[in-house]
Amino acid sequence: MHSDRNLSLLTLCLAITFAQQAFAQSPNLPKYDGNKLIFPDGFRTGWLFVGSNIGLQYKGEGATVLKDGHPLTAPRQPQVKAPGPPVEFHNVYITPDGYAGFRTSKTVFPDGTVLVIDRYLAQKKEPHDILSAGSFDGDQYGALVAVKDSRRPEGSGPNKTDWSYYVFSADEIAKPGAEEPVSDVSLSVCAACHKRNGLVDNVWVQFYPILRDLPKSGG
Ligand code: HEC
Repeated sequence: MHSDRNLSLLTLCLAITFAQQAFAQSPNLPKYDGNKLIFPDGFRTGWLFVGSNIGLQYKGEGATVLKDGHPLTAPRQPQVKAPGPPVEFHNVYITPDGYAGFRTSKTVFPDGTVLVIDRYLAQKKEPHDILSAGSFDGDQYGALVAVKDSRRPEGSGPNKTDWSYYVFSADEIAKPGAEEPVSDVSLSVCAACHKRNGLVDNVWVQFYPILRDLPKSGG
């Protein structure tokens, strides 16, 4: 009787240890240097592409922060000669585990989910001058990162949310292992808009075909 119970306790402990090890070993989990996020460059080769958009603007109270494309990044933007704000492509990626968890639950993203917006200036001319219309991914323009991590280093305190947001410039991305820069913006503004308007669990599922079509397809 006793040994049965000990055996199940042992099995449980082993299961927890294996689960923790699996969590710790997944190469796509967010990594930090102190409080700073290390740029998750694995999205280029091993993540899922959830969707893209070009030149999204925002109505209402978000119009000011989003007026130059995506929020609060305006001070980092280079001077562009064309009138009006530069138009940029957003190519959005999610970690495979984040996608798998959301596919199952359809309502929440699992802890450890990371989404990256890879930003490119929309370019209309290429060296051979062969294009007559349209635009393509031009110069890298930096990246925005959303991380769901209840265990992140600075994640405690009264305003704690599981989601946190980071801004990287193109230069910071080019250096391998780049860290989150000291930011000149209040990142809590990011979380506030995402929480209020993202369709599911802070994420703008409404803009990403492989996420928003899950409920219809029955999983
Ligand atoms: C006023 C509203 C608003 C604010 C503030 C805002 N965002 Fe977003 N965010 C959006 C919208 C709209 C999208 C949809 C897709 C896009 O823009 O490419 C989005 C998408 C994202 C995504 C893709 C994953 C997801 O959650 O859908 C990331 C990453 C992201 N934003 C990072 C940030 C960061 C970093 C900040 C703060 C510097 C920020 N956002 C502030 C509106 C906002």
